[in-house]
Amino acid sequence: MSKPAILDHPVHALIAERWSPVGFANRSVPPAELRSLLEAARWAPSAYNEQPWAYIVATREEPEAFAQLLGCLVPGNQTWARRAPVLMIGLARTRLARNDKPNRHALHDLGQASALLSVEATARGLQVHQMGGILPGAIASAYDLPQGVEAVTALAVGYPGDPDTLPDALAARDASPRDRAPQRAFVFGAAWGKSWE
Ligand SMILES: Cc1cc2nc3c(=O)[nH]c(=O)nc-3n(C[C@H](O)[C@H](O)[C@H](O)COP(=O)(O)O)c2cc1C
Repeated sequence: MSKPAILDHPVHALIAERWSPVGFANRSVPPAELRSLLEAARWAPSAYNEQPWAYIVATREEPEAFAQLLGCLVPGNQTWARRAPVLMIGLARTRLARNDKPNRHALHDLGQASALLSVEATARGLQVHQMGGILPGAIASAYDLPQGVEAVTALAVGYPGDPDTLPDALAARDASPRDRAPQRAFVFGAAWGKSWE
């Protein structure tokens, strides 16, 4: 299944074809593919090249680890994410290694890393569904997170499922249109709210 963006201006196919499925195919992701996704994250830019991101990874081939990670999602996300072959948690080191001051770009840089990971996934026929609906306290205790490390997102990774073989609720959600505000809502020129012409 694909769900390309309806574009107002042309972009690379990898950008248009990335989307966030809830229905995943019952198909494993080879470890080498996952390493390539994480390599894309590794090469993201970051403030001071601090690389404040970290990922915790669990595949369905590791049932205990997978169940632990699944249990760190809010129930609404667990309902569909349990079908994904791979789950990850995205974390950020929130203080700079160079001087222990707060890194106010840490979450931004984790987001960039996850964006590159997602585009690399699209290039390999995979899709990534990021989630903010996580249980940070559960993650901190389950994974013994040190001070200054914050769980920010979870990521479900897998091959999109065939709508004919998905449960109806998931197929319906994946069939819903993708939607974006137009550029004039967020691209400004002379002042905030003044569209850049
Ligand atoms: C940081 C972040 C948090 C998100 N949280 C959730 C979530 O908890 N549950 C969910 O189903 N989708 C979540 N999403 C997915 C968005 O709803 C989705 O990206 C958005 O609707 C646009 O759809 P698209 O990615 O298919 O273009 C999240 C996405 C991001 C980037």
